[in-house]
Amino acid sequence: MANYLIYGANGYTGALIAREAVPRGHRPVLAGRNAAGVSALARELGLDHRAFGLDDPATVRAGLQGMTVVLHCAGPFAHTAGAVAEACLQTGAHYLDVTGEISVFEMLARRDEAAKAAGVMLLPGAGFDVVPSDCLAAHLKRRLPAATKLALGFQMRGGLSRGTATTMTENLGRGGAVRRGGKLTPVPAGWRTRVIDFGRGPVTAMTIPWGDVSTAYYSTGIPDIEVYMAAPRSMRVVARLSRYFGWALGSRPVQRWLKRRIQARPPGPTDEQRARGQSLLWGEVRDERGACAVARLRGPEGYTLTALTALAVVQRVLAGQASPGFQTPAKAYGADFVLEVPGVQRSDE
Ligand SMILES: NC(=O)c1ccc[n+]([C@@H]2O[C@H](COP(=O)([O-])OP(=O)(O)OC[C@H]3O[C@@H](n4cnc5c(N)ncnc54)[C@H](OP(=O)(O)O)[C@@H]3O)[C@@H](O)[C@H]2O)c1
Repeated sequence: MANYLIYGANGYTGALIAREAVPRGHRPVLAGRNAAGVSALARELGLDHRAFGLDDPATVRAGLQGMTVVLHCAGPFAHTAGAVAEACLQTGAHYLDVTGEISVFEMLARRDEAAKAAGVMLLPGAGFDVVPSDCLAAHLKRRLPAATKLALGFQMRGGLSRGTATTMTENLGRGGAVRRGGKLTPVPAGWRTRVIDFGRGPVTAMTIPWGDVSTAYYSTGIPDIEVYMAAPRSMRVVARLSRYFGWALGSRPVQRWLKRRIQARPPGPTDEQRARGQSLLWGEVRDERGACAVARLRGPEGYTLTALTALAVVQRVLAGQASPGFQTPAKAYGADFVLEVPGVQRSDE
């Protein structure tokens, strides 16, 4: 089997993926800046490891030497994706990550030509965001090819990891985003709400600046895109308040205080919480003539699903299915790709 490397392997998500990889017969090299954390996990799983940080480009290139694929799991990715992707372009390794950050998808989309020239695939968003939602978007586009409006939504049943909470904290106060006429368009936090039935009865959801606002456009070409998250009233109130206090939420002292609180929490959902959790997704497309199509997906809890989808992508790349350039999951592997993941079901309305 070709070599692949998991960067940020000692983090909650990286470790979950490494643990899922081994029973499939994978032998990923575990890597990260935290030598003690990475070597302890590598010893436990009987895998090789490499310890290096991302500050010096030559060090990162040396760290990726000999790798066919890199699965990058160290986020917030706004701080890390550029360094890892650049080293992948230079060393010829295909780049995968589990980001959900719009700015990161857009930065990698701008590297499309460079990636094609290097024969390297850049496929960010190989986790919960965006594999299931991207496949759902492509499925809906297939059902209504003339669609001009896409709404996607999700309801998470399970907890958040420290890394996800940190990434969300960094984006607090930056407002929301949608696509209008194909352009990323800033909107206020919690800009719109709508009642959505994710498959378990109607709940209220609000718009959030989720990765699909970027990626679904590349996968479907639909110019108007909104993404919703099921949000209890308290969350909607906080989002609205953040419109007025965004400057304070983004300030250094408040960010430091929030991140200290996050570090005091458990690293992420326990195995039991993940086993009990569930992901529910919904999507709707409309065309100019008023035609509409709706579909839903349900699957395992978000972090479990992230591990399963990321490894499904790795498996494809290791089998030689990697198209050079910037890719989304559905563009690379089709709308039905997510149905290969155990426990994922799709239904049409
Ligand atoms: N899109 C999705 O569906 C999805 C799903 C799961 C996770 N995620 C994202 O994945 C990221 C990681 O989440 P997590 O729960 O695994 O977080 P975590 O447990 O906090 O782990 C973060 C990992 O990243 C490393 N790291 C952070 N900043 C770094 C830097 N500047 N240079 C090198 N390494 C760095 C950490 O190394 P140290 O141990 O040295 O700090 C650690 O290995 C978050 O951004 C999260 O939002 C997205």
